[in-house]
Amino acid sequence: MLPVTRTASSTLSRLGSYLRLAAQTPVVMCSVAAALAQPLLETLRIVDAVEPVERDADLRNKTILVTGATAGVGLATCKRLAARGARVLVCGRNAERTRRAVEEVGGRAEAVALDLCSLESVRACAEKVKPLRLDVLILNAGVNANVPTATHPELDCSLVFGVNFVAHYLLVTLLLDSLGADARVVCLASAGAASIFHAIDASQSRVDGARASTPSTRHKSQNAGVMHHHSAACHAHDADYAESKLAMVLLARALSRGDLGRKVDGVPVNPGAANSDIWRHVWAPVRPLFRVCVAPVFLTTDQACASSVAAAALPLERDGDGLPLYLAPYWVPRYGCRAAFEYVGYFVGSGAAFARVPAREHEAAEALFARCRGLLAGS
Ligand SMILES: NC(=O)c1ccc[n+]([C@@H]2O[C@H](COP(=O)([O-])OP(=O)(O)OC[C@H]3O[C@@H](n4cnc5c(N)ncnc54)[C@H](OP(=O)(O)O)[C@@H]3O)[C@@H](O)[C@H]2O)c1
Repeated sequence: MLPVTRTASSTLSRLGSYLRLAAQTPVVMCSVAAALAQPLLETLRIVDAVEPVERDADLRNKTILVTGATAGVGLATCKRLAARGARVLVCGRNAERTRRAVEEVGGRAEAVALDLCSLESVRACAEKVKPLRLDVLILNAGVNANVPTATHPELDCSLVFGVNFVAHYLLVTLLLDSLGADARVVCLASAGAASIFHAIDASQSRVDGARASTPSTRHKSQNAGVMHHHSAACHAHDADYAESKLAMVLLARALSRGDLGRKVDGVPVNPGAANSDIWRHVWAPVRPLFRVCVAPVFLTTDQACASSVAAAALPLERDGDGLPLYLAPYWVPRYGCRAAFEYVGYFVGSGAAFARVPAREHEAAEALFARCRGLLAGS
């Protein structure tokens, strides 16, 4: 492509991203209003308070491993599953925090050491839990785009992508053959994943363009990879986060198709915007404003664990291809402008929705897994 055409197309794509964001604003505002009105409506008994999704579940014969279980959504998930009788393996990178979490979770909870910054720790964790034949694996641990450290200590990628996705990919591939017969893998995604779709689709068209041109351009374009292109609408760290969360959706769906060697149900979930420690690295000058203005519309961690708990404990709804549907905590329409409803909104516990994936999902997933294998081989 000529440089002038490339600049024009990148400007148009940037403009398109901003227009798409602007178009979603009214819907997001309505969703925020619904979130703010909900406690009042419940207090006035105009609507019923949302019941715990797992109220009738019996998990006494289930062994469930939760990563990032020392705080936030992970800790809340462990408590709710343990309360229904599950044997919960509480994974944490810090021995003291993990011990405290086990105490808080109660029941049959056990501590398991897991630091996703250390591949040795991931391998040791897999070895330790293999004999237990896990029924559910909840890949929950995560850091968001505001973390101060830029790179993963052992992988040639960002800390965000390495912790949130690559280390989890390694864990799940190591455990795949030792999962129980009807096992499930719950993959924590985020509404933020959507910000990367257009970049991936654009990147795929660039590869198509190169295929139609000379062999040398084709080589360059294919080397660029499909999954590592940042959306014009967000800065690099946001894109790393979005990419890591979209990767979780693709991983869940690939597991359900059997693309990783064994077919197990992979369930992508969005916990919603939760008032957890994940926001502790928000830029200091805006932090107070963030706490005052944003906290009231965010979910508590107990509400935000509903999708993970439902994915672990309830019968799964499936799409036309038999893949488990994506679970989200807000009311989300099945069709139409779904993305904007996923950021914040009216809490329903856990609702099934269709996962949004790039136009050519298989190619994006293949490129993603190839990149993961490359990163792990080079570590
Ligand atoms: N909160 C939200 O608004 C939101 C929105 C969408 C998606 N999510 C996703 O939901 C998941 C849970 O987030 P949260 O809000 O509960 O966050 P959080 O309160 O910060 O908890 C994150 C958990 O991950 C663990 N963790 C971080 N780095 C780790 C590492 N290198 N090795 C092992 N464990 C590590 C933390 O352990 P330590 O206690 O040792 O730090 C903690 O237990 C994440 O995957 C996040 O991306 C959250």
